[in-house]
Amino acid sequence: MTTYDLALIGFGGVNRTLAEIIHNRGEELRSELGFGLRVVAITDLRLGSLVKPEGIDLHMALNLGQGASFADHGGSEDTNNESVIRTCTADIICEATFTNPEDGEPAASHVRWALESGKSVCTTNKGPVALRGPELAGLAQENGVRFEFEGAVMSGTPVIRLAKQMFTGLALDGFEGILNGTSNYVLGRMEAGLDLEAAIREAQELGYAEANPSADIEGHDVQLKVLILANELLGADITLDDVTREGISSVSPADIAKASAEGRRWKLVGSATKHSDGTVSASVKPMALPLDHGLAGISGATNAVSFSTDLLGPVTVSGPGAGRVETAYALLSDIISMHAAKKVATHV
Ligand code: HSE
Repeated sequence: MTTYDLALIGFGGVNRTLAEIIHNRGEELRSELGFGLRVVAITDLRLGSLVKPEGIDLHMALNLGQGASFADHGGSEDTNNESVIRTCTADIICEATFTNPEDGEPAASHVRWALESGKSVCTTNKGPVALRGPELAGLAQENGVRFEFEGAVMSGTPVIRLAKQMFTGLALDGFEGILNGTSNYVLGRMEAGLDLEAAIREAQELGYAEANPSADIEGHDVQLKVLILANELLGADITLDDVTREGISSVSPADIAKASAEGRRWKLVGSATKHSDGTVSASVKPMALPLDHGLAGISGATNAVSFSTDLLGPVTVSGPGAGRVETAYALLSDIISMHAAKKVATHV
């Protein structure tokens, strides 16, 4: 039976949860999915790096104490990302470092090094996909490997793959969605009476918020996701500056109370529209939606996106948009998709 060797780049909530899934459910997955998973390298800003071609003891890696380093277990205090990614024996690089909305780095380089060295990549990182997507997809093609990024939008809810694979034969001319769990959660909590800061703190504790929650609150996170969906699914060729952006910090408790009294609810809506001349316009903005609008009832960290199609009319996908387990599942789903396509270059 095939075993895929993985390198986990970044060992925060998402890749740590993927390691837990492999550690706790590896055998079950092997019989269910028909392939095994083994972690042969981990790098992390805090822990350093560890490379073991024979497989890393995940129990050890998952139970390192405060202040511990991989240097105490035969590794290094340095991340050594480039050399680990280029030279380790992994078949697949799972990239889950922080999203940099400016230029996608250093994650974009992690992806590039992996693809250049003939390794497939799955990532939950919006930066490389939104800002360098076409270049990295081209590199994957040149090297005969895969570049998968289901978790970049709506965590493990399979919106990208669903639309790419199951909407064939349909023309998509736009979408609108709730694409940020934190801001949706925060708006709901503000409706229940909390102030903005307290609601953000709760979202951070629940693991929804970005390292810098202003990315969630000010709409930067949704801007990246709208860009990804527009370019990947509508065939747009737009850049970040083409997606106009306004966050929810301008929505006051008084605005929320007024909307409530009028039978409306504030939502941060990301949308894109394909025009008859083929151009695409896209935006992120808070909107007070009437309660019978399809997105008004989407609550908590749940996300939803409604695609406008020619033959089916609107098709809406709703599901988790954030969370460690939900996002780790996206990586697993990317690996399953690679296996199905039988395009992973195995090194074992
Ligand atoms: N911080 C994001 C959200 C999760 O709250 O939706 C990952 O994109």
